[in-house]
Amino acid sequence: MGPDRSKLKELLKKAERVAVLTGAGISAESGVPTFRGADGLWRNYKVTELATPDAFAQHPELVWEFYNWRRQLVNGLTYNPAHKALVDLEAKVPHFTLITQNVDGLHLKAGSRNVLEIHGNLWKVRCTRCHKITTDMSPDMGTLPKCQECGGLLRPHVVWFGESLDYPLLHQAMEASRTCQVMLVIGTSAVVQPAASLALETKGAGGKVAEINVEETPNSRMMDFVLLGKAGEIVPELVNSL
Ligand code: OAD
Repeated sequence: MGPDRSKLKELLKKAERVAVLTGAGISAESGVPTFRGADGLWRNYKVTELATPDAFAQHPELVWEFYNWRRQLVNGLTYNPAHKALVDLEAKVPHFTLITQNVDGLHLKAGSRNVLEIHGNLWKVRCTRCHKITTDMSPDMGTLPKCQECGGLLRPHVVWFGESLDYPLLHQAMEASRTCQVMLVIGTSAVVQPAASLALETKGAGGKVAEINVEETPNSRMMDFVLLGKAGEIVPELVNSL
């Protein structure tokens, strides 16, 4: 463990409040494809172009096919040592908030409790007519699934590009970011808001921010610590030594 990691470990040991922001990179070692980079493609579509309200308005069956594929993929996968280490970290810190951009539900499956799924959850659906939200764990929702209440077309309860985040959730995420002494930013390319701004909230309030990623990101420059490597190796190493 280098000087950087020992310093971060000391800060984490003393911290009353810790916030963690995770992105697709933390689930990569579980087998969930990330959004950007070589595996961010599905049948030659850029996945970032399918996760949009426009794509759903024009081709709902295609978007559902994509989400059914993701359901089936994630259904057979499980959490990895990085998810597990965050469960252990939550047990060690008095006030812990885990903010995730992931919709795979793996943090909850691992046992994390105070989780803010700011981009929604793959296993929830929302009616486009009556707006009712339900949990449905079916690995295949069919081509154009309908609401059991009103017959309206269902959509995945996830936040797509061009849509706003749920305000109360975002508010909680901002609050946790502002009040923590340390924020860990794990496995996110930091190109989508509010990833970058949450770390800024922490910094602006005098907290320290640490990035854990296999490569540097646009956010790396503002980080107090940059730990390069796999989340599945670095996060357990950090947490186990606390
Ligand atoms: P990205 O796919 O943009 O970024 C994944 C990040 O994880 C990259 O910076 C990789 O370098 C890093 N990474 C990959 N493997 C890793 C590993 N084993 N350990 C640590 N880091 C690793 O995913 P996000 O940043 O999560 O939004 O993307 C943000 C949002 O964009 C997503 O939530 C999604 C997408 O559009 C919505 O669907 C609304």
